[in-house]
Amino acid sequence: MPQVKLISRFFEIENSHRLRVYEENGGYSAARKVVTENWEPDKIINTVKASNLRGLGGAGFPAGVKWGFVPKDHEGPKYLVVNADESEPGTFKDRHVMINAPHLLLEGVIIAALSIAAKDVYIYIRGEYWEAYHVLERAIKEAEKAGYLGKNIFGSGHSIKVHIHRGAGAYICGEETALLSSLEGFKGWPKLKPPFPAVKGLFSMPTIINNVETLSYVPIVIEKGPEYFAGLGVERSGGARLFGVSGHVNRPGVYELPLGTPMRELIHEHAGGIREGRSLKAVIPGGTSCPVLTAEEAEKVNLDFDSLAEIDSMLGSAGVIVMDETTDMVKVLCRICKFYSFESCGQCTPCREGTGWMARIMERIVSGNGHYQDLDDLLDIASMIGGNTICPLGDAAALPVTSFIKKFRDEFEAKASAGSITAASSRLSAEEL
Ligand SMILES: Cc1cc2nc3c(=O)[nH]c(=O)nc-3n(C[C@H](O)[C@H](O)[C@H](O)COP(=O)(O)O)c2cc1C
Ligand code: SF4
Repeated sequence: MPQVKLISRFFEIENSHRLRVYEENGGYSAARKVVTENWEPDKIINTVKASNLRGLGGAGFPAGVKWGFVPKDHEGPKYLVVNADESEPGTFKDRHVMINAPHLLLEGVIIAALSIAAKDVYIYIRGEYWEAYHVLERAIKEAEKAGYLGKNIFGSGHSIKVHIHRGAGAYICGEETALLSSLEGFKGWPKLKPPFPAVKGLFSMPTIINNVETLSYVPIVIEKGPEYFAGLGVERSGGARLFGVSGHVNRPGVYELPLGTPMRELIHEHAGGIREGRSLKAVIPGGTSCPVLTAEEAEKVNLDFDSLAEIDSMLGSAGVIVMDETTDMVKVLCRICKFYSFESCGQCTPCREGTGWMARIMERIVSGNGHYQDLDDLLDIASMIGGNTICPLGDAAALPVTSFIKKFRDEFEAKASAGSITAASSRLSAEEL
């Protein structure tokens, strides 16, 4: 399947981050249409629902359905929050969107804000995204000057103020409730749901949180029509999305493809195949939180939410990490475990303690001092974390452990047994002595 150039066409247009260039390429016509034709919020929400656009930050919840949860009779402010934290390892698509098509995101923001009658919008951007932050800031000023943001947008009487807030480097602040706490000035700690942010979110007011890419598809859905968008993908997974391919491929990068495209096509055609003619060993399909796939699974699966769920994995953030035959799977899992242990916020005992135990066991195995028992201990700890925590970081830490050990058990046993042999022989020589 060829790439579709909906968002990614702006990656190829020079100066596409400037308002003039964006408008020369049809920019702001969807927002203008919605405003000047006086679309009711329900019309916007139903159009997005019909497009089957799903949340592209990780969880895949249908965007229009989420917007419909905001209470219509609420008196007082409602907020739209853009999740631009993009910290999931292996994920880098939102950065491309913000740097190359900031006005596309802002246009999506305008339409989404109108659908829930939000007058204030907060963009929570990853602190390290210095360039994207400046590009966005300038784009907001350009849009305000043109009358597309600020007071009386497009002369309609509606007002939308966009604020940017930079994160301070905590992965957990990408989780929506932690993000809201951080935005309010508190420690970035996740909260139990319900209540969901759509009902009680920022400053306890109804709040919709969407990912950068999700919102950037909204003008395209309005412009091209929901049927066109839904028709690109497969049933229940509408449209296309940006796949960020990294690892051992010849052409790593961001590729926009219809949902349902075979993964083998993404890897072998668009990303140029495995480097140096080597063979594929494993793929993490959507950021390190997603269960790993063997080469055989990766060669067969299609890139949509349901196909990956059928093989007990996830499409997540579509950060596709490709590993060739030279990859040491034990070292990879060790790195992943250390990441989640470091990033756990520490509120829940299973996550705080369990991620640390798993990281330490993995470090011991990698250093050659592991034991056979370690593998069962790891699986045990993972099973006690999964489903027993406030937020999904616990599951994100547990799922890689389970899938790596299950699918590459031989490799783990070989490494762990090296430690058992060393331990046994050193015990023997101690007795002999
Ligand atoms: C630990 C953790 C980290 C997350 N990090 C991000 C992130 O960096 N960006 C993002 O858009 N969503 C992230 N999410 C998902 C958000 O909680 C939320 O589902 C998303 O922003 C909703 O937007 P969407 O419906 O458009 O996907 C994270 C979730 C968890 C549990
Ligand atoms: S699961 Fe981990 S990161 Fe999430 S709230 Fe609990 S301790 Fe914090």
